[in-house]
Amino acid sequence: MNSKKLFIETYGCQMNISDSEVVVSILEKEGYELTDAAKDADVIFVNTCSIRDNAEKKVRNRIQEFKHLKRKKPNLKIGILGCMAERLKDTLLEEESFIDMVVGPDAYRDLPSLISQTGDGRQMANTVLSLEETYEEITPVRLDRNGVSAFISIMRGCDNYCSYCVVPYTRGHERSRNPKSIITEAKDLLKKGYKEITLLGQNVNSYNWKTDDETLNFSKLLKQVANVSTELRIRFSTSHPKDISDELIETIANTNNICNSIHLPVQSGSSDVLKRMKRSYDIEWYMNRINKIKSLIPNCGLSTDIITGFCGETDEEHNATVAIMQEVGYDYAFMFKYSERPDTFAANRMADDVDEAVKSARLTEIINMQQKTSLASNKRDIGKVFRVLVENVSKRSTAQMSGRSDENKVMVFDRKNTVIGDYVNIKCTSCTVGTLLGEII
Ligand code: 5AD
Ligand code: SF4
Repeated sequence: MNSKKLFIETYGCQMNISDSEVVVSILEKEGYELTDAAKDADVIFVNTCSIRDNAEKKVRNRIQEFKHLKRKKPNLKIGILGCMAERLKDTLLEEESFIDMVVGPDAYRDLPSLISQTGDGRQMANTVLSLEETYEEITPVRLDRNGVSAFISIMRGCDNYCSYCVVPYTRGHERSRNPKSIITEAKDLLKKGYKEITLLGQNVNSYNWKTDDETLNFSKLLKQVANVSTELRIRFSTSHPKDISDELIETIANTNNICNSIHLPVQSGSSDVLKRMKRSYDIEWYMNRINKIKSLIPNCGLSTDIITGFCGETDEEHNATVAIMQEVGYDYAFMFKYSERPDTFAANRMADDVDEAVKSARLTEIINMQQKTSLASNKRDIGKVFRVLVENVSKRSTAQMSGRSDENKVMVFDRKNTVIGDYVNIKCTSCTVGTLLGEII
């Protein structure tokens, strides 16, 4: 039988990768086969991101290439999925007549039906957001390719409405997934040979499962997943500072196979800016959490997200961000210029008034500073031994392998007789800004 072919391209966050795995699973049940070559596809899906304007521009450029493909192959169906679909809805169909489908993040079960209703210029959209959808019983088709690290999506949506952020509008309200289905998925991954699970959610630590006879918060769920097997190591992302409880930090500290690594977006070092961002914590609260983490989990890997040049950000407020970065000493940071998103609170009520050149200069300053901090952190690791999960053949040389330490640092080492999926002890011998180099001991 000549099966229909699906090509899917994913932009944006890990949640989108995880969603694409659900989409592939839904379509495989309909007889579709995944292809790596867009030109061979009967259906092309682009799973999109709206977080910043440049993320949307990237997708807009890329889909023009698919438009050309469709000229040569008129029966090709093109679907835009995810956050851009949700944000722009029918407008996207009106603007780009070659697009057949626009499908929001909660409507993927409807994809087979939408595909069948399109064709000959008929366009379809489903951008209904749900209060319940978690795709809980759908076993994702893993797109990771190394067969070692997998994502499990445990909650969806966000109710925080940070003033700059489009996510609550594109991914809907917060909802948690049934813990039984999460544990079943973890056990299934273990059986398939996976060694690392990353629990995912927009605010993963706001996870809260409530029924008449059961409540389960994130730290209890995390513990249950870790208990599935000591052969699995567990990560989670992204945490909101308001929900980093003592109980959660203690669970991480006391459980061997929960990785000592926390991504805790601070966004700004100034409490006034945090207030304008509607982040619901101030810098004292944030530092209190960081200090608690440092006291219970010495050497915990710490990373963050920072937005520079938010509405009204003064030099003094920017300097407060520089100061907090120095005080915490993050191992890694994702740093962005503020990008106004239509219809958010900030877009409606505040002026995007920091000069573009000032935004750029501030971004460059913090990037340069973070590079120095990352290098200093890596240099402190020279001579130490790390337990590393072998994840890939090194990009530079097939004689070397790469993997990550518990603290989420990338390590590269001579392969000897290791294979992907092994745990090995690596002694760090030297480093660059982004990588620890070492040898198996
Ligand atoms: N402009 C710039 N960065 C943003 N982020 C979210 N919204 C915006 C925006 N409008 C950043 C935040 C968030 C990360 C995923 O993206 O730092 O933590
Ligand atoms: Fe966006 Fe804030 Fe929700 Fe994170 S917590 S997804 S930044 S609204």
